[in-house]
Amino acid sequence: DSKEFFVVRDAGGLFAVSAICTHSGCTNEPNGNEFFCPCHGATFALDGSKPTSPAHSALKHYAMCVDASGNVTVNTAMTVPTATRY
Ligand code: FES
Repeated sequence: DSKEFFVVRDAGGLFAVSAICTHSGCTNEPNGNEFFCPCHGATFALDGSKPTSPAHSALKHYAMCVDASGNVTVNTAMTVPTATRY
């Protein structure tokens, strides 16, 4: 079970979104303002939402923290609601 992820910043803050395509588990790639799965062509918004066929579910978000020095730690053992920002 791969734990690859992207750390993304939007207007609300930082979040960690899984890089693993929800169709068959390939690794998504950043592609402009979306993620693209090279295996069968699904795309996702940068927050993991809006999956296109053949993926039908959004990407998971992982718990993370940012310490006082700005170091980011991601906990891939814990998922969080997709609206969570850090
Ligand atoms: Fe990503 Fe099939 S594994 S579209």
